[in-house]
Amino acid sequence: MKRRTRIFRRAGLLAAFLLLPFLVLQAKAQTIPVETAHNALVLQVTQGKNVNMIYYGKKLSSPGEYVQITGEYRQTQDYTGMYNAAYTPSGSRNLLEPAITVTHADGNNSLALKYVSHQVKQVSKGVSLLSVQLKDPVYDFEVTLYYKSYFKEDVIEQWSVIEHHEKGNVELHKFASANLCLKGKSYWLRQFHGDWAREMQPEVSELTHGIKTLDTKLGTRADLFQPPVFMVSLNQPSTEDEGEVLYGALEWSGNFRFDLEVDPQNNLRIIAGMNNYASTYSLKPGEEFKTPPFITVLSSKGKGEASRQLQDWARKYQLMDGESSRLTLLNNWESTFFDFDENKLKALIKDTRKLGVDLFLLDDGWFGNKYPRNSDHAGLGDWQANKKKLPDGVFSLVKEATKDSVKFGIWIEPEMVNPKSELYHQHPDWIIKQPARPEYYFRNQLVLDMSNPKVQDFVYHIVDNLLTKNPGLTYFKWDCNSVIYNAHSSYLGNQSHLYIDYVRGLYKVLDRIRKKYPHIPMMLCSGGGGRVDYGALKYFTEFWPSDNTDPLERIFIQWEYSYFYPAIATSNHVTAWGKQPLKFRTDVAMMGKLGFDIDISHLNDKDLQFCRKAVKTYDSFKNIVWHGDQYRLADPFTNDVASVMYVDKTKSSGVVFSYLVNNRFGKGSKLPIRFKGLDASKKYRIEEINLYPGTKSTLKANQVFSGDFLMQIGFNPDVNAQRTSVVLKLEEVK
Ligand code: DGJ
Repeated sequence: MKRRTRIFRRAGLLAAFLLLPFLVLQAKAQTIPVETAHNALVLQVTQGKNVNMIYYGKKLSSPGEYVQITGEYRQTQDYTGMYNAAYTPSGSRNLLEPAITVTHADGNNSLALKYVSHQVKQVSKGVSLLSVQLKDPVYDFEVTLYYKSYFKEDVIEQWSVIEHHEKGNVELHKFASANLCLKGKSYWLRQFHGDWAREMQPEVSELTHGIKTLDTKLGTRADLFQPPVFMVSLNQPSTEDEGEVLYGALEWSGNFRFDLEVDPQNNLRIIAGMNNYASTYSLKPGEEFKTPPFITVLSSKGKGEASRQLQDWARKYQLMDGESSRLTLLNNWESTFFDFDENKLKALIKDTRKLGVDLFLLDDGWFGNKYPRNSDHAGLGDWQANKKKLPDGVFSLVKEATKDSVKFGIWIEPEMVNPKSELYHQHPDWIIKQPARPEYYFRNQLVLDMSNPKVQDFVYHIVDNLLTKNPGLTYFKWDCNSVIYNAHSSYLGNQSHLYIDYVRGLYKVLDRIRKKYPHIPMMLCSGGGGRVDYGALKYFTEFWPSDNTDPLERIFIQWEYSYFYPAIATSNHVTAWGKQPLKFRTDVAMMGKLGFDIDISHLNDKDLQFCRKAVKTYDSFKNIVWHGDQYRLADPFTNDVASVMYVDKTKSSGVVFSYLVNNRFGKGSKLPIRFKGLDASKKYRIEEINLYPGTKSTLKANQVFSGDFLMQIGFNPDVNAQRTSVVLKLEEVK
């Protein structure tokens, strides 16, 4: 007996001895949790002063327990810490894809980043900021990591600030904003690609071991082929209501790069930031290099919750005036293109009033004299009203609009120049082009060098002059139709700064505009949705998702945008595109910020009557669409009838839009559609709205159901080949 006890005791001591280093490491490791309402992102400082990311998932009720994360997370210990460094340096012990790569002033390429300190600051109610200082033990080189957490919305913004005090410039070859590490059995990426009029096309695939890079190198209209957003589901593709899913988005209106790496230990490493392509940055001693914030939102309840959280965050914290109102409008682009004069525009202003929308938006073609803007071949850069088309300038139009109680907005494309323009001849040095190579055009134009302060000043004054000379001007559409070819600046000494300094220059101008005109609404446009990102949306109240306004296509395009951006930011116009009836076109445009781009004078009486009433109907529920919660009920990719619902925050009213998207074999809504987001205990009256004059709803009037019924059993909007789009209004019955 005694012998056995001795053996056990010895074995116990031996086990304790073997486990000792591990226990010591555990005891000494310090965890830094960044917590939001449902999640936690946890950093760990190891004994060797490395900072690793050990967890990003549903939060534990006791934060003290994160320190016990072991097992599959054992790679957090120093000997394998390269898998999950919170900011992976290169050239020392880390051999995986780096977040940062540098060449020091003395030519050395190695970097190690060790923990120095960290602080947490309460920024405002519900918003806190963690900063973690890291330093190279050999070089006077520092990186501070920032994690700004929005508690209620489950959003975390991450960025880094890089600084050094070496005896000369340090070359930054890679400079990510964020370096995440997640743990799952498998990872399912939903990425997006596109082109002009084909924005936001989704692709879902399982990530395999190795690196998948999503990036752009186009410079200005940077997102033409790929937007700076993606989502990854963990373990299986998530649905609207189930599964763990992470959304990622970069606040940057230029080249970006996302590396998604499934590493040898099956972690998902995400390294996100500005693209380092052709952009090695030479950093002076004492200069700060701040990377743009990378946003993540994580949900364990599927894509629907993640996007509602992100939309809430955007309205409250990021989108310009996200919690206020928007102007409905009539735009003249599709109805006139470049062919208009003062009289035609004055008639359109009258039509705007007749239609009942808030604003008339004058699009491209109003400027240029020596080189009139009568097509997209000439005039860009010469921002004086064309004397032939507008003999009394923009002013007389603004005056006319004001007289008719209509607001007036104007189109500009201030970063661009046509070779056929006075600006091109006056300031060749302001243009991005290679000095010794032939010019190469995109939409017959070139890009101005926004890294040059003189160009920044010029662009600022385009806006400022228009506003100063026309105090009644209330809206801008800011377009950007070119990519950057032949990237070369005659201003910059270091050409590899161009892509980054361009965007910084653009933001300087927008900051200046917002300082003087904090609330003027501005639409972000880039030949459609070529520049939609949360960096730009800090300055813009809304964006133009696509020039493709065929409502059938738009259902799909708007569906995909809605994962990331709230409806209040999404400009949708009723145009002549597509074969769908006017009602269908209007219903689709109502799922966002409504506008029209049709010739009102060509509408027959019934169409006009319908449009006028639709504007009033929209006014009656627009706040639910703009500020409520969005639920994607039926996916157009997998159903014959697509359906989207908006519910106000008090759950007392809602709007449901349903469309026939597949018309084969007499398809339609055979089954009820289950609503979401209602209060099960409340009763709701359902009414079909926005009917075309002379048509009657096929639905029984005054039907009342409990929220429980509508969410469990559902409601059939009776969409079919005769009723291809149906809008329902839900109102609580007390
Ligand atoms: C591209 C935009 O997407 C259109 O809406 C229109 O403004 C044209 N540019 C004007 O040139």
